[in-house]
Amino acid sequence: MIGWWKTWKALEAKGIMGINRRNADYVLKYNKRSLYPIVDDKIITKERAVAAGIHVPEMYGIISTEKEIDTLDTIIGGRSDFVIKPAKGAGGDGILVIADRFEERFRTISGRIISHDEIEHQISSILTGLYSLGGHRDRALIEYRVTPDQIFKSISYEGVPDIRVIVLMGYPVMAMLRLPTRQSGGKANLHQGAIGVGVDLATGLTLRGTWLNNIISKHPDTTNAVDGVQLPNWDGFMKLAAECYELCGLGYIGVDMVLDQDRGPLILELNARPGLNIQIANDCGLTHRTVAVEKRLEELAADGVQESPEERVKFAQGLFGHV
Ligand SMILES: Nc1ncnc2c1ncn2[C@@H]1O[C@H](COP(=O)(O)OP(=O)(O)O)[C@@H](O)[C@H]1O
Ligand SMILES: [Mg+2]
Repeated sequence: MIGWWKTWKALEAKGIMGINRRNADYVLKYNKRSLYPIVDDKIITKERAVAAGIHVPEMYGIISTEKEIDTLDTIIGGRSDFVIKPAKGAGGDGILVIADRFEERFRTISGRIISHDEIEHQISSILTGLYSLGGHRDRALIEYRVTPDQIFKSISYEGVPDIRVIVLMGYPVMAMLRLPTRQSGGKANLHQGAIGVGVDLATGLTLRGTWLNNIISKHPDTTNAVDGVQLPNWDGFMKLAAECYELCGLGYIGVDMVLDQDRGPLILELNARPGLNIQIANDCGLTHRTVAVEKRLEELAADGVQESPEERVKFAQGLFGHV
């Protein structure tokens, strides 16, 4: 394992993007303030995606007030697995992944048994804004629980891995696979202790990973190698990510996708301020790539041309592959 600081220093030479540059030159420049609600509220993102024919985990219901908490049983019906999350949450906080029923209770994905009262209490906390950006009142969203594709069995521990792609003006620039660990409680958020694994944009082959700020090549729980794994349907994921530009109108986003065993690639959420750790996982800076896309955009603008999602993916894969 290599120290965090040394890694970061070495990456500087590779065009690493720092937080100030990201904010000033990308987030502020490409993301219109008025469009933020589309990505900051998962319910709005979902409604937009459904309208555009983009697949997402099905929404079972929304709880907006204390009084509506009584409708939970009707919303979940006879289902024994589902997910409850804050519409405006981030970093995996406040998310309850229910995998099964156990007598009168429920079992979470990490094996914890919880009562109906505890679930109601959790929803109440969501509504008061405990997990929302800025602590504002929020809504609870109840949705389909994703079952990850079998491909992830050997390199993941419980929960659902997700695929994060940074997309600039509709061009995918970098990708990372995030794997839950015992520590992350089934969630794929790096701050919860998940692993970030770089992905070759051109091929969908996994590279090495980063875990708790160290470079790793084996999953700490399963001890299987995380590199050299071919992600299925990679071009499909690339196209899905590219289309999210048309979906939300924001020019600099992190697109989070999952691969469901039965329903295929789904959009989980969009982020207007995607994190920078993806650079560590890919051992590669973002700046050279974002600048290449900006150059491309200038050339196309001069000719009055705009590329389709397929053309944008082709451009990105031609230029940003690792081999
Ligand atoms: N419908 C779902 N089914 C199974 N796991 C989920 C589902 N939604 C979220 N998760 C797990 O929780 C993590 C965080 O969910 P996400 O919707 O991205 O919220 P956040 O904004 O908090 O990151 C995901 O990466 C995934 O591992
Ligand atoms: Mg997320």
